[in-house]
Amino acid sequence: MDVTDSSWKGNVGLVTTLLEELNPKPGSAALCGPPMMINAVAADLEDRGFQDPDIFISLERHMKCGMGTCEHCTLGPYHVCQEGPIFSYDKVKGIL
Ligand code: FES
Repeated sequence: MDVTDSSWKGNVGLVTTLLEELNPKPGSAALCGPPMMINAVAADLEDRGFQDPDIFISLERHMKCGMGTCEHCTLGPYHVCQEGPIFSYDKVKGIL
């Protein structure tokens, strides 16, 4: 089943639009997806009072070998496969 299936009852659309509907209160959040979406959602969460250390980002999409040998996962000062793949937003803000 996918979102084009007429029996789909889940949300469809931009995550930031869904955030407007959900109006989450400050706390912890876990994000995954493309950098543009992560940055947009993180900015929205910041505006809602979430703190960057409480926003967790999954960056496994940068990984290839997963063993620290291919350098494919280098992101700023980090090797995602060795030091992640989960990072708090304060660690990766501006380098996604
Ligand atoms: S995925 Fe190859 S070095 Fe990290």
